[in-house]
Amino acid sequence: MIVYFDNAEERARDFTSAIGYDIAPTKFAPNDWYLYLDESDLTLRHPAKQSMRLSLDEIRRRSLSGRRSPLSRACGVREGTTVLDAFAGWGTDGLTLATLGCVVTCCELQPLVFAMLYDRIERFELCSLDCTRIDVRELLADRTRRWDVVYLDPMFPAHPKTALPSYPMQVLADLAEQSDAREIAEWSIERADQRVVVKNRIKAPPVIRAPDWQIRARSVRFDIYRADRN
Ligand SMILES: C[S@@+](CC[C@H](N)C(=O)[O-])C[C@H]1O[C@@H](n2cnc3c(N)ncnc32)[C@H](O)[C@@H]1O
Repeated sequence: MIVYFDNAEERARDFTSAIGYDIAPTKFAPNDWYLYLDESDLTLRHPAKQSMRLSLDEIRRRSLSGRRSPLSRACGVREGTTVLDAFAGWGTDGLTLATLGCVVTCCELQPLVFAMLYDRIERFELCSLDCTRIDVRELLADRTRRWDVVYLDPMFPAHPKTALPSYPMQVLADLAEQSDAREIAEWSIERADQRVVVKNRIKAPPVIRAPDWQIRARSVRFDIYRADRN
């Protein structure tokens, strides 16, 4: 995976050495989405589409609603709650949970998305959060790893009747890996000490069996499963 630059070669070198990517001048950039770093920002660029940068404002705004928010209540947030954010994406949910006191492991498979996530986490400067580029099935297969909460926000299938999502979410829909959320949810129930939370569209059927309980927000629903501790 490559990060492209015009003038910020040294900064690009520092950034990529931290995540194991290479660098190259922008004149070699592909005819598709690519990572671009200048002196101030990491952006996702595309020759025919608007560039995208992740801001920190949404996380700050969300963390203001504190532990009363549906996400926080769904995850049963307390100081020090350990959370695996299995489908981390841009990290908005994972970062929000970390600002509320959780110790979060963000897991993201898609390499462009991972680089943007890594950069966003670095900019937020929260030590209670780390991120790893891995297929979450590998993490869940390691029986020595456990979390209080496993949080799953899989990509929702396209829906003709819902409003166009925000631009970052449209880009994510372009790039995201697709995995069998059902299988991952079943494995998660064996790895969580307290609960598994699955985010879903408000009216969509549950990803697996009926949940133990639900928390509804304006356009999404959190299905909550008690952990299987046997
Ligand atoms: C809907 S997005 C998550 C959005 C996220 N909650 C946020 O706040 O930005 C789902 C993400 O899961 C990632 N993903 C899909 N399958 C995965 C897997 N097996 N392991 C790790 N990440 C995966 C996709 O690449 C995508 O970025």
